Amino acid sequence: MKSLFPIFKNNPELVYLDSAASSQKPQIVIDWVADFLANDYANIHRWLYSLSERSENLYHQSKTMLSDLIHCKESEIIYSYNSTYCFNLLAQALVNADSKWEKKIWHGDKVLVGIREHHSNILPWQTLAQTFGFIVDFIGIDENYNIDRADFEAKYDESVKVVSVSHVSNVTGQIMDVKTLKSKLRDDTFFIIDWSQSVPHFPVNVQEIGCDALIMTAHKMFAHTWLGMLYLQQKRIKELNPMILWWGTPKDVSTTDFSLQWNSDKREAGTPNIVGAVSLLKALEFIQSIGMWAIREHEKRLTALLIEWFREHEDWIRVFGSLDRVEERVGVFSFEIKGKSFNKIGEFFANHNVCLRSGGHCAYPLHKSINANGSVRVSIYLYNDEQDIQSFFTVLDELWG
Ligand SMILES: Cc1ncc(COP(=O)(O)O)c(C=O)c1O
Repeated sequence: MKSLFPIFKNNPELVYLDSAASSQKPQIVIDWVADFLANDYANIHRWLYSLSERSENLYHQSKTMLSDLIHCKESEIIYSYNSTYCFNLLAQALVNADSKWEKKIWHGDKVLVGIREHHSNILPWQTLAQTFGFIVDFIGIDENYNIDRADFEAKYDESVKVVSVSHVSNVTGQIMDVKTLKSKLRDDTFFIIDWSQSVPHFPVNVQEIGCDALIMTAHKMFAHTWLGMLYLQQKRIKELNPMILWWGTPKDVSTTDFSLQWNSDKREAGTPNIVGAVSLLKALEFIQSIGMWAIREHEKRLTALLIEWFREHEDWIRVFGSLDRVEERVGVFSFEIKGKSFNKIGEFFANHNVCLRSGGHCAYPLHKSINANGSVRVSIYLYNDEQDIQSFFTVLDELWG
């Protein structure tokens, strides 16, 4: 697999174990984007010439591929800039809901998120809560770092209007049972799932879960940066006002008024990230050519090696997550080492040409809840192999002495 990614040819010593932050790009995506820019690029929409038509077709093909991958309609996909933007836009839309459908969240209501969430699923709610007077509450984790069911039951009362959780934690790597969570929700609860760390790594199906909205980010799955993908159930697209009020391509505008169009495309105001979408198209074709199950199986093999090693070294290394079952996690592990600062560990790895991440991983509430200032995170993807995992163990052994 490594030979398909030029970064490894150009940096032969590189051990890249930071894919939870962003993935490397295959040659096929790099070439395709260069080819698109050289041959087919033009702005999309309202075209009268074939170049623009070709460009728009590719833009839409990427949505078709994505909707096939996650099992929804193409018209339910809205492009934005990354997961963080998607969360902000969606949160705005929920407080902007119009008179036809009342405001979804209002004074005294509650938005329930997980303590294990990435900040992008926390800050937008906290900011809007200050203006609109609703409450943001957190579902804690149990001793196995899973969502604490008792805490959820205690907090999920009539005032909860939105539940928003990540499918896979970017700190613990654990997969949440979102289907069971959905089965516990009332019909009037707007259910949002953050798929940033799941859709790149294993097969997912919107229909099986039945949520209102899903959030994804292209740069973690072989495509360019600055493309976020929001799935919004068809009926929700019709119900919610455009995410930011002056967005939404207008049907008509005069000096005194404007009217809006309502399909998903029209939620993407201004020129979208055409190049990002075209890169996603090739990235998805690449994923399809390998097969999502094959990606999952490969990662499970490497994850099992990591689990085994971490279990054997529990006396000096503490992993923030369960080491029980490979089926219930992806290859993301955050840990601390007794007596050593996470930044110093990160530096030590960097000096050995091993790229991983140290810090709070944009999940400070989770770290605070387990009395940790931060952690070191190792994360894998399709292009990693046993040799990478062995290099990681070797540096850890050297570090511990
Ligand atoms: C679970 C999760 N949600 C959201 C994000 C934010 O993604 P982006 O930086 O693309 O906005 C990340 C990024 O690491 C993440 O891991």
